[in-house]
Amino acid sequence: MVGEETRTAEKEATVKISLFSGSIEKCDADLVVVPVRKGAVNPAFERLDRAFRGALAKAAARERFKPGKGKMFVWHGSAKGAHGLVMAIGLGTPEPDAAEWRTAVARAIGIAVRHHLRSVAVFTDATFERRELEARWSAEALALASYRFSRYRTKASKETLPGVGKVGVFPAAPDPAGLRRALEHGLMAAAGVVLARDLTNEPANVLSPETLAARAAELAQKKGLACRVLDPAAIRESKMGLITAVAAGSDREPRLVHLIYRPTGKARRKVALVGKGITFDSGGICIKPAKSMDEMKTDMAGAALVLGVMSVLPDLAPDLEVHGILPIAENAVGGSATRPGDVVKSMEGLMVEIVNTDAEGRLILADAIAYARKEKPDVLVDLATLTGACMVALGPFTAGVFSNDEALAGAFLAAAARAGESAWRMPLLESLEKDVRSDVADIKNTGGKWGGAIAGALFLKAFVGKTPWLHVDIAGPARADSATPLCPKGATGYGVLTCLELLARM
Ligand code: BES
Ligand code: MN
Ligand code: ZN
Repeated sequence: MVGEETRTAEKEATVKISLFSGSIEKCDADLVVVPVRKGAVNPAFERLDRAFRGALAKAAARERFKPGKGKMFVWHGSAKGAHGLVMAIGLGTPEPDAAEWRTAVARAIGIAVRHHLRSVAVFTDATFERRELEARWSAEALALASYRFSRYRTKASKETLPGVGKVGVFPAAPDPAGLRRALEHGLMAAAGVVLARDLTNEPANVLSPETLAARAAELAQKKGLACRVLDPAAIRESKMGLITAVAAGSDREPRLVHLIYRPTGKARRKVALVGKGITFDSGGICIKPAKSMDEMKTDMAGAALVLGVMSVLPDLAPDLEVHGILPIAENAVGGSATRPGDVVKSMEGLMVEIVNTDAEGRLILADAIAYARKEKPDVLVDLATLTGACMVALGPFTAGVFSNDEALAGAFLAAAARAGESAWRMPLLESLEKDVRSDVADIKNTGGKWGGAIAGALFLKAFVGKTPWLHVDIAGPARADSATPLCPKGATGYGVLTCLELLARM
């Protein structure tokens, strides 16, 4: 429960977030943030301005501040006022979406950091229907913008992050129960994103298949999820030849983690989430160039995403049965590594020619999909840092979405839009199916020169049968090359919020 001024965020988040239910001019946060929406009156801003006897509006006019997307105005309040700083965040429309709202709030954290401020309060002056939504997004933004991965710094950073975040509404709410729930929801979702970021940022010497599986089991224990971990022998016994082949070059043996969330009542539907868990992708014998190879420690972002989602489900308690399935391996080089041209039998039975050992993600996913289908899910979603080609097609911020089911594709894209994450539908072109045909076996693991993201998806399609299926290529958005207001450089935790939105309306 979010208590008045007392509730702290999950311990992963560095900022404590609570509801501020007093009136805005009494708020004593070091930084008070008010939205200024394009094309709308701004009662919160006006009320604050009155408290400062018109000085706020005057300063805004002097600086020629105009509301608009990405615009902001920072004002050092008078010594007599309760506020240290007032910040107006410009919004491009009266009703901004999740992405715009969160980014605007996250910029406030940036200002707080720059000015070494301890506490930040964000106010929404939206209509009754929208303010719970904006409160939730504010909590998410405060938690996510305060995220740092500092586990391996032995010297404390000079940066001071604000330790206290408050979310208020204007005018003050007479009955704040709904707002508290909204904050609670935002904090839980953000904790899922933070978990995904932490796991993804972890270097591969620390996070091996064994330790990733152990962390998953620990999480299951803590959250009350059912958990089954298949060790290398169990993987071989289950005839997962592809996972075994990908792991063959590494001294670190593979795992397959199967987590289950079951609702207390009857489940309406059964969903399987499959996440690619390559703890390091050297490319195998088809070795990658040294430049940026270090980034391939994030090649388990799909698995981390699924863990982030699973970790939140017991708190959100949807009436769905959700299976989280993580094929985990290291793609290394060694004397027993799989060679280009090797032919391997998949769990499903299809014979696969591995022409390129760097196209390993689709191999472990194919076996994990076959494993997941034994549960007879109503819906199967896989999420994977699968292809550089998807980044060529869509740029680095957008996931490619492939599906054999129109309703599922529509639901996922709608969920991404609500979550404020960028995703775009891609086609499963029949004309490229011949590219994954093998000369010697049933199928091969790469396509032709063009359409690499589609070839990857078409390879997976050969293993899904008639199951309603959706494949999300997150090679681009799982990792950021540079910091944004909401996320430092590195793992983004992309996809957790979208999957939670999807499950919430499934
Ligand atoms: N993990 C990579 C894909 C990737 C590339 C993710 C860049 C994030 C950033 C994947 O295993 C891979 O190596 N894909 C190959 C496929 C090719 C050999 C058909 C690629 O994209 O080059
Ligand atoms: Mn690869
Ligand atoms: Zn990979």
